Amino acid sequence: MEGYRGRPWTRLPALLLACAAAAAVGECRVVHVGEAHRRSMLANGLGATPPMGWNSWNHFACDGNGEVVIRETADALVSTGLAAAGYKYVNLDDCWAEPERDAKGNLAANKKTFPHGIKALADYVHSKGLKLGIYSDAGYKTCAKAQPGSLGHEEQDAKTFASWGVDYLKYDNCNNGDTKPLQRYPDMSKALMQAGRPIFFNLCEWGDMHPARWGAAYGNSWRTTNDIEDTWNSMTSMADQNEVWAEYARPGGWNDPDMLEVGNGGMTNDEYIVHFSIWAISKAPLIIGCDVRHMSQDTYDILANKEVIAVNQDPLGVQGKKVRMEGSSEVTDAAPHCTLR
Ligand code: GLA
Repeated sequence: MEGYRGRPWTRLPALLLACAAAAAVGECRVVHVGEAHRRSMLANGLGATPPMGWNSWNHFACDGNGEVVIRETADALVSTGLAAAGYKYVNLDDCWAEPERDAKGNLAANKKTFPHGIKALADYVHSKGLKLGIYSDAGYKTCAKAQPGSLGHEEQDAKTFASWGVDYLKYDNCNNGDTKPLQRYPDMSKALMQAGRPIFFNLCEWGDMHPARWGAAYGNSWRTTNDIEDTWNSMTSMADQNEVWAEYARPGGWNDPDMLEVGNGGMTNDEYIVHFSIWAISKAPLIIGCDVRHMSQDTYDILANKEVIAVNQDPLGVQGKKVRMEGSSEVTDAAPHCTLR
């Protein structure tokens, strides 16, 4: 391992510049070794590298999660070049559904905010060369309590999602009647596998029962933390909690320290550079959480940094770990196969 060794996280902005400068003269190359050895993927074959995309929650929460915003976001991902940089999933979070199931017991899109329904939205997103993600909960209600959860309706809901053309499911952990995640998440995993369409499965279990230990058998990524906030302290706390599970990350199954806050305004530009860098070296899902329709050039430059994305998307899929302290700095073996020469 060369290159990132010995570079403390606190110096990552400088590191990014170093890598970018090196790349400009053709010196940053990615070396792939032992790839086959590290592969034992869920049978849906998804998540060979960490997923990249966008999700409505960090910027919009329940307000503004509607089909106009989602369509415009898909348009913006393409027109800005972020889609070409790898961001493919366009994911709805909580509050997309009617508060009650329909007469047949199916989940139904909220009539006011998604008047054309999810199938039409998926068709639109697919027509842009992107993929559509959706959200549900392994409980009786979602976390915002705005819509029903999927507990007890796993097969029905998985079939509904597949029939709509959904490509990704974020599956939350609220209002679960104290039943164990090791019952609830495998049930949905099985239902998705039988639904007739490959659907990336993100276990949003918040790290409660240490899903790094069992998540790869049932999903493609698992949250290791509670919810991120748009502050330096929250972001670094997510990174610390996530790092503990580094050994468990691998192609097909990724530790998820929650979605990106880059561009939401609560941190400085340098802090966002560090945020994005840590997520990249942690092989975390790169799920954008800002309004890409109106992002600044600085935000775009962080999110579209090819060298940093290449570290995240390296096929070997080794998550960086902290290896020692240097004074008050923490040192990581961040990218064991990205060689700067
Ligand atoms: C939980 C999840 C968040 C978000 C909200 C939606 O808090 O961890 O990421 O999905 O629910 O209500």
